[in-house]
Amino acid sequence: MSIMVVGGAGYIGAHVVRLLQQAGEDVVVVDDLSTSSAERVGESPLVVMDVAADGAVGRLEDVMREHAVDAVIHFAARKQVGESVARPLWYYRQNVGGMVNVLEAMQEAGVRKMIFSSSAAVYGMPPVEVVEEDTVKNPINPYGRTKLIGEWILEDCERAWGLNWVALRYFNVAGAGWPDLGDGAVMNLIPMVLDRLSRGEAPRVFGEDYPTPDGTCIRDYVHVKDLAEAHIAAMRALDGQLAHHVFNVGTGTGASVTEVVRAIGEVSGLDTTPVVEPRRPGDPPQLIASAARIEDELGFRSATGLGEIVASAWEAWQAGPRRIERP
Ligand SMILES: NC(=O)c1ccc[n+]([C@@H]2O[C@H](COP(=O)([O-])OP(=O)(O)OC[C@H]3O[C@@H](n4cnc5c(N)ncnc54)[C@H](O)[C@@H]3O)[C@@H](O)[C@H]2O)c1
Repeated sequence: MSIMVVGGAGYIGAHVVRLLQQAGEDVVVVDDLSTSSAERVGESPLVVMDVAADGAVGRLEDVMREHAVDAVIHFAARKQVGESVARPLWYYRQNVGGMVNVLEAMQEAGVRKMIFSSSAAVYGMPPVEVVEEDTVKNPINPYGRTKLIGEWILEDCERAWGLNWVALRYFNVAGAGWPDLGDGAVMNLIPMVLDRLSRGEAPRVFGEDYPTPDGTCIRDYVHVKDLAEAHIAAMRALDGQLAHHVFNVGTGTGASVTEVVRAIGEVSGLDTTPVVEPRRPGDPPQLIASAARIEDELGFRSATGLGEIVASAWEAWQAGPRRIERP
């Protein structure tokens, strides 16, 4: 099988690329390297381009034909919530416009399979403790809206020209499957804590007065390598009949910010006593995935626990340029 991975040099994409390479699949990566670097894709051919730019459709179509692409995995997107609030039009152009370009090229080149990176952000502030795929979708920022719009576009393409697709709604992705593929961005909790520690500063906790057992927010942390495996399961499922196209990817259990910060202290041997700051706007107290649908229909289950996730993130951080020397 020949698979185009758009955004395949990024944090999650590079994990999927490596799994596909190990499985002996033909992979072509398309990435503008805006938040990543070329060495992450290894031996696979890499086409450096912005998929949201004018003229992208023709170039993508050429690459699809040249590599006889059968399926596309679409990771490329901007993902900073705050930035999306400040620059909504750019986010729509990048995330929605880029995806429309990729799909247009697929339609032209006769490629009928897509796996799309969606997000728990489509749920916004869900009114339930454990989120099922049919829970009301009410994204509260432009980033989350671009993901929900992406799912709608896929539905429409299915109806119009027979696209076969899966959207995976990732919960909190963390860890590293290989030490050289760590999360390079400082946007999620574990890298944010490690970033503070590497500067000799105490980790920050935003709000400890939430209605949760220890007062800090609870999230569902999924190991990035498990998440990468979910893409392989989805790819196989696209060969058959799907009862559903949208799947949560989480573990079905949550960990609080305090528990994560403590786990980092245990793994690193560093003092991670945090400073407590006010709540950030738009943070729901708890966000946990129901992981039942993906297990029932795709046979996928993420079982890696928090300790292992944190240990792998620590190992990757220590393999990188901002290694932390223990005092
Ligand atoms: N990391 C998470 O916790 C998380 C959670 C939910 C959803 N997601 C989604 O998963 C996907 C991958 O996220 P990630 O964490 O690997 O992010 P990332 O920034 O590491 O990866 C995105 C990749 O896409 C590339 N890219 C971005 N815009 C592009 C464009 N217009 N043209 C070509 N390449 C482009 C970047 O250079 C990068 O290599 C994104 O769609 C993101 O919204 C991530």
